[in-house]
Amino acid sequence: MKILGIDTSCDETAAAVVADGREILSNVVASQIDVHQEYGGIVPELASRKHIEAINYIVHRSLTEADVTFKDLEAIAVTNRPGLIGALLVGVAAAKSLAYCHNLPLLGINHIEGHIYAPFLAQLASQNLLSKPMVYDDVLPFPHICLTVSGGHTLLVEVHKGWQYKVLGSTQDDAAGEVYDKVAKYLGLGFPGGKIIDDLAQKGDPLRIKFPRPMRNSGDYQFSFSGIKTSVRYFVEKAQRAGVLVENGQKDVENTNPDMVTIEDIAASFQAAVVDILVYKSLHAAKSTGASAITLTGGVAANSELRASLKTAAAEVGAEVYYPPMSLCTDNGAMIAGIAYQKYQQGLRDGLSLNAAANGSIVDV
Ligand code: KG4
Ligand code: ZN
Repeated sequence: MKILGIDTSCDETAAAVVADGREILSNVVASQIDVHQEYGGIVPELASRKHIEAINYIVHRSLTEADVTFKDLEAIAVTNRPGLIGALLVGVAAAKSLAYCHNLPLLGINHIEGHIYAPFLAQLASQNLLSKPMVYDDVLPFPHICLTVSGGHTLLVEVHKGWQYKVLGSTQDDAAGEVYDKVAKYLGLGFPGGKIIDDLAQKGDPLRIKFPRPMRNSGDYQFSFSGIKTSVRYFVEKAQRAGVLVENGQKDVENTNPDMVTIEDIAASFQAAVVDILVYKSLHAAKSTGASAITLTGGVAANSELRASLKTAAAEVGAEVYYPPMSLCTDNGAMIAGIAYQKYQQGLRDGLSLNAAANGSIVDV
């Protein structure tokens, strides 16, 4: 059973064809990063316009790469929530038109459910389970804890068989990726900031500056990152005033002042604070629910320090960490087509009245 999955929730126009919720026949993504780069962040109106330009071509390519036509499809799935409303509307309008023209069932999918499905989808492919019956526990231990961290979301969820979720906590302000992007912008490092800071951090001292860990010890699973961003700003201003800040690229400037601090040190210390909170709360969730696995998904799941620290910490409590390849971590259509298969089996069908919504929790589906 082949499903076309479409995602236009943010700044990627994505379409994929997935068979039986497990075999990725194509996964095509058009990134808009170069368009938004000059503004230092995503401009929603531009995102919508770029989706309109790209959507027909990307859908067409996803079909040709999968070597199928609309006649081979059993359903069309589209992210209809949460996300940038104008961006979502483009995908939803395209999916509705295609479902109508080709007389195919239409499924509206929650973007976060797609992210949560991505590690499962990656496991299915990597374990050669493509032709066997889909037994949940053969793929991943259930229930497991999923940490979704992207530019728009930071969410800890307990994932149960049958794709039932218990949201343990989420961010009260900025998402983890968003704070990376804002700190990078503030430091004049470019957009998106996650990878840039991750790379710089490799050359810095994570213990050099003790940035705060807001809500780390709140005893719950809520997150707050905006305070770290403010602390970085104050620290940089103070270091500049004191004349002890070594600007990016000048790390080798000879100096003997022990108060000197480099951009690399700031990147490493900032990253240490963010990763510390994410790892601490994820581990706390695994321990208190007894889950033996943690999955990591979303763009920030690419972070080298997060991957390494989570793995080390989880091993100490006997939990396994799973993260999908980058192509499935970031926004893509395969995760949407994948979870749509599961929802289709559960009876989900949406009519042509399907609408987009900027918000949408994964439990009130
Ligand atoms: O999932 P994604 O592609 O898009 C959505 O936000 O939905 O995630 C993009 C986010 C950006 O904020 C980017 O800075 C962050 O993921 N990111 C990283 C890394 N690579 C991408 N953050 C930290 N470390 C990285 N290596
Ligand atoms: Zn996403």
